[in-house]
Amino acid sequence: MITASCLISCLWLLAASALASPHGRCDFQPSLTHCSGVKRYVDTFRGGAIIDIPQLSHDKPAILSAEATWNVPFIKPNPGADLHDVNNRHEMGKWVGITGGHCNDAASGALLQAGTDTALLENGKTEAFAWLEWLPAAAFALPPENMTVHPGDNIRVAIRIDATDEGFVEIQNLNTGQKWSDAVANPHPEAAGSAMCLGNGTAWFLNERVLGVPGAKLDRDRTVLPVFSNISFADVQARDRLGHRFNLGDPSADYWNTTQAGTETPVFVSEPVGAEEFVIYSPESKNWVPLAE
Ligand SMILES: *[C@@H]1O[C@H](CO)[C@@H](O)[C@H](O)[C@H]1NC(C)=O
Ligand SMILES: *[C@@H]1O[C@H](CO)[C@@H](O)[C@H](O)[C@H]1NC(C)=O
Ligand SMILES: *[C@@H]1O[C@H](CO)[C@@H](O)[C@H](O)[C@H]1NC(C)=O
Ligand SMILES: *[C@@H]1O[C@H](CO)[C@@H](O)[C@H](O)[C@H]1NC(C)=O
Repeated sequence: MITASCLISCLWLLAASALASPHGRCDFQPSLTHCSGVKRYVDTFRGGAIIDIPQLSHDKPAILSAEATWNVPFIKPNPGADLHDVNNRHEMGKWVGITGGHCNDAASGALLQAGTDTALLENGKTEAFAWLEWLPAAAFALPPENMTVHPGDNIRVAIRIDATDEGFVEIQNLNTGQKWSDAVANPHPEAAGSAMCLGNGTAWFLNERVLGVPGAKLDRDRTVLPVFSNISFADVQARDRLGHRFNLGDPSADYWNTTQAGTETPVFVSEPVGAEEFVIYSPESKNWVPLAE
């Protein structure tokens, strides 16, 4: 058993009160805010693409699976930034996730997510690792022996929901050929809001600033954020419970940009590329081509 990392779970908990106020009809859940039927969504700490998928089966969650491939980005410190100060460091998670609609209890339901995390270190280099999470339970970082990830690697992540408390995660490093997969179960099935809800679901393909970096002030209060190299998501797809395939060409797909809190300054821009592909870029570094470290 690996020590659960606070990074991703804290991120979501902190995020609950930090959401931008979007337009349109929103579902407010402790862990997620999502406005259905609204295009051009802007958030202060996450960006990417989502696909809403209707529920077709009454006793199982709407979404069977979601998958995508992406390159793990490099992060570049701001010129002159003192990286001994943790507030000048930075961490981002890229992930594929599945949520359901509404549960019968008042608490919101689970989010199954898996992906990679990229962190800017004190020495100015970037490191990465893979993780998964059955939210609201804490995230679980895969040790390097099970999945080694470096910035620049291409990673494919596929996740599946088999029942309200059961799923499956597969993570593959396409550069090294290393593959990890396992069944995942809701770690606290007795806890309210921990099961995957029924109802219409959402497949998530996001990049997100990790809030709650230990010792740092909250990321959402930061004003000068380091930039990163383009993240290209490819082979983006999801399937509903009956196996129908959805992608970004579907009318229920949407793209989210991210702005610095309290401003309209974009920090991540999510740009469509095709029905199964999009790019997330940092406006200040979209032409940056990092040298392999
Ligand atoms: C995201 O930003 C790009 C570039 O400024 C813009 O073209 C696009 O409309 C924005 N999308 C959203 C969802 O606001
Ligand atoms: C679920 O999605 C379907 C198809 O998009 C829609 O007609 C229905 O109103 C949605 N249900 C809820 C509860 O949002
Ligand atoms: C990681 O690999 C080791 C050795 O193969 C194995 O014993 C362990 O169960 C794996 N851990 C996970 C989380 O899969
Ligand atoms: C990053 O993506 C942007 C938006 O598509 C593009 O203009 C830019 O050329 C890309 N940069 C690189 C280095 O590929």
